[in-house]
This record gives sequence, C-alpha cells and structure tokens, in this order.
Amino acid sequence: MSKTRRVLLHCASLVGGVFVLLQFFRPELPHPPVTADLSAPAQVKAILRRACYDCHSNETRLPWFDRIVPAYWLVVRDVTEGRKRLNFSDIGKLPQARQNAALFESVNHVLLGAMPPKPYLAIHPGARISGDDIITIKGYLSTLAVAPKPPAGTSPLPSPPSPPLPAPNGIAFPADYGAWKPISGSERFDNGTVRAILGNAAAIQAIRENEIAPWPDGAGLAKVAWKLVADPDGGAHAGDFWQVELMFKDRERYAGTLGWGFARWRGNELAPYGQDASFAEECVGCHAPLKDSDAVFTRPVRRSAELPEGLDLLTGRVLGLSVNPERTTFSMLLGDHVAANHARTRSNEPYPPGSILVLATWSASDDERWFGARTPGAVASIDVLKRNGESWLHEAYARGPEKLERLPSGDPARTAEISSRTTATLVGAKP
Ligand code: HEC
Ligand code: HEC
Repeated sequence: MSKTRRVLLHCASLVGGVFVLLQFFRPELPHPPVTADLSAPAQVKAILRRACYDCHSNETRLPWFDRIVPAYWLVVRDVTEGRKRLNFSDIGKLPQARQNAALFESVNHVLLGAMPPKPYLAIHPGARISGDDIITIKGYLSTLAVAPKPPAGTSPLPSPPSPPLPAPNGIAFPADYGAWKPISGSERFDNGTVRAILGNAAAIQAIRENEIAPWPDGAGLAKVAWKLVADPDGGAHAGDFWQVELMFKDRERYAGTLGWGFARWRGNELAPYGQDASFAEECVGCHAPLKDSDAVFTRPVRRSAELPEGLDLLTGRVLGLSVNPERTTFSMLLGDHVAANHARTRSNEPYPPGSILVLATWSASDDERWFGARTPGAVASIDVLKRNGESWLHEAYARGPEKLERLPSGDPARTAEISSRTTATLVGAKP
C-alpha cells in the first residue's frame, strides 16, 4: 500500500468513526399524545397528514434517512419549530374561528410556495401538494366563508384612550393615520371583514415613483378592518371597526422582522396586540412568504391612464367601503378633508359646502396572493360629488366598451344614495 492510500484510508475511518459517534448525539423528539386533533373532512385531512403532519403534529413519522445525524438534527429543529407555530394535534382546543383561520393560512402558505419547505420537498417528494389537492382544500374552505353580519342599531361613537398605549415593541399609535391615503382594499370572506390599505406620505411617493420592491425606509402602511354588515339588497358594507395594523419600514431598526416594524391595535379601545415584542413573529410568519414584494401583500391600485385628469385614486381619505350583492365589485367612498372631518363626527347633518366625495368602484376578483380575499381590479365606475351650496354637482363615469366614459349627467337617485351613506369609523384618527 502506498503512503497516500494509507493516509486516505486512515482519514476515511476517522470520518466514519466520528459519523458513528455523532449518531449518539440525538436530541429527544417527543411524541406527546394527540389531544385535540384537527377536525376536517377525511379527504382534506388525508392531504394534510401526508404533507404537513410530520412537522405540524405530534404524530411525526421519520423515514430511515431522516434518523441519521446530521439530517436528524435538521429534522428535529424543523419539527420543534413547526409544532410551535402550528400543531394540528391540539388545534381543536382553539375557538372555531381561529382553527378556520389556521386552515386558510395553511392553504395560502402552500399557494405561495412556502410550505412544505422546498428543501424538504426535494427529499420527500411524497409531501408535494397537487393541483387537485388544492381544489379539494379550497372547496372545503369555501364552505367556511364568513357571511356579513345582519345590521344592528348604530353603535355610539367610540372614545378610545388618548393617546392609546404603544405596541409591545414600542411602536406608537399613529394618530394621523386617518389622513393617510388609500392604496387599495379587500373583502375577506375568510373572516367576514372588509379592509382599507392606507399609505403615509413616504409610501404614496414610493408608489408614484414605482419604488416599492423594496419599499424605502420611512414608508408606513396601515390596514384598517371593519366587520362586514349585510345591506338589504344583498350587498355589504363596512360596519363596526375591528382593528388597525401597521407596518413601518426601517431596514436597520427592524432587521429582525423583515425590515418592517409591525403593530396592531384592536377594537374600539385600541388595545395594543401582543403580550411582548415576540407578537411580531405571528405577523412575520404570514408575511414572510411574499419574497418578491418585500413582505407586502397589497398591490397598490394605480392611477389608470383612462381616468379623467385630476381624478387620482391615491388621494382622498377613506370614508367607507362596500361590495355589491354578487360580490363582483368593490367600492370605496373617499372624501376630501372637509367631507372627511364631517363624516367622522357622524352627524346627521348634510355635508358642508366645499365637500367632495368620490365613489370609486372596481371590478373585484380573487386575490392572487391570498385565497380568502377579493381585491379591486379594473375601474368600473367613478362618481364625483361636489357640494355646491345646498346641492351637489355630480359627475359620473362608467366603463364603456373601451375605456371609462363620462356620462351626460349623474343620476339624482344615485347622488342622494351616495351622499347619505353611513360612513365607517377610523377609531383614534385625529382630524
Ligand atoms: C419539514 C417540516 C415542515 C413541513 C413538512 C411543513 N412545515 Fe409548515 N412550517 C415548518 C416550520 C419550521 C415553520 C416555521 C418557520 C417558517 O415559517 O419557515 C412552518 C411554518 C408554517 C406556517 C406558519 C405558521 C405561523 O403562524 O408562523 C404554516 C401556516 C405552515 N407551516 C403550514 C404548513 C402546511 C399547510 C404544510 C403542509 C402542506 C406544512 N406547513 C409542512 C415546517 C414544516
Ligand atoms: C394569517 C395571515 C396574516 C397574519 C398573521 C398577519 N397578516 Fe398582515 N396581511 C395579511 C393579508 C392577507 C394582507 C393583505 C390585505 C388583506 O387582504 O387583508 C395583509 C396586509 C397587511 C398590511 C397592509 C400591507 C400589506 O402587506 O398588504 C399590514 C400593515 C399588515 N398586514 C400588518 C400586519 C400585522 C401588524 C400583523 C401582526 C400583528 C399581521 N399583519 C399579521 C395576512 C396576515
């Protein structure tokens, strides 16, 4: 035997010996009893069992090649972390709405390509979710859609603490969010809410300059959610305030949470969400798969070229949101500051002179980034109401065969309807 071969052989046996030794360093992977397993139709459960249960349940099954160190270490880490985030073996303990939300989140993680993890799939092709699997899961989730609530009496104007407490990660409540501009909205049938997405001045400028992947430091996005209330005609509108959420971009300060500072205030009391700063892990968990859009779901609606001059949809303040009975359109009622200040007092008096209202209506379609949401697509119609003394000047535009066309006049019944709509409350927003 040559000297080199002897050395090589020596090395190989050393590596082999270390490999065998390492096998004894095995962190424990417990299998606690299944206490409250997910309840779902058998076909849905079979899919999740095959593709997800090995990391997201107490019933982890490891093929032989996962039992070998160092692969085993990675598996134990994934399973421990996976169970901590989502455990189908005890999910039954959660209120039904939270269980449903976990299933919507699950199918969306699959659709976004985040789950099962790609490296895992490469070695465990059996965990792949097929197009048919998706149809099966979506079919079931569609039956869990939350219908708009029947209208209740008007609730009193909320009086939250002033100022509301900061979020547990120190982010202060942005009392000026009511003046932020709308960049989009969504109807969420997975939880029966309707949302407006607003941007601060830095965010709006970034949108205009098309600098949103990534967003610049200083950009602030707010998402305001209201419970959906059923209208007599079968449509629905924004009713009681539910919560306001924030994302503030600061790459350095929030390096640990995707470069965004997350915060949420719940209910009319504007109670900050979360026990401690780790609450943001939840936000990150859902937003992280959006790698191509800097963790942001919303695609801002753009000023479409066909809109008449001066009618920029990224201006104005949100006064209300609605969807039509067939759920084919999504509308936002916007106002200038005169109209907004009036609307936010919720007085029954007519709008003061100088008020401008814009009802923007889009055709709505399923959100490509979130199964459970419907978002605005092409502009379907625009109504502009300008208060002139005691009357309204009403300009109306509707989609023609090719583009948006100005109608000869606004329909008086529609003028009356738009100007008497109940508006939604942005709790805690200073005029
Ligand atoms: C190899 C283990 C593994 C498999 C298999 C797996 N996951 Fe995960 N999952 C994880 C880990 C680890 C995390 C937490 C870190 C992350 O988000 O990457 C996670 C996070 C999640 C989250 C986010 C939970 C939260 O609130 O933070 C969801 C939802 C999810 N997985 C759903 C699924 C679904 C659905 C499947 C099956 C189609 C699946 N996972 C398969 C390991 C796994
Ligand atoms: C279950 C998934 C999920 C979790 C958890 C989640 N979000 Fe979101 N978030 C969404 C979706 C989906 C949208 C898109 C708007 C819509 O349809 O509601 C969104 C949008 C937003 C927006 C508007 C900007 C954008 O990305 O479109 C903000 C701000 C926001 N979320 C803040 C938060 C905060 C703060 C938390 C944690 C307290 C959080 N989110 C947790 C799913 C989630």
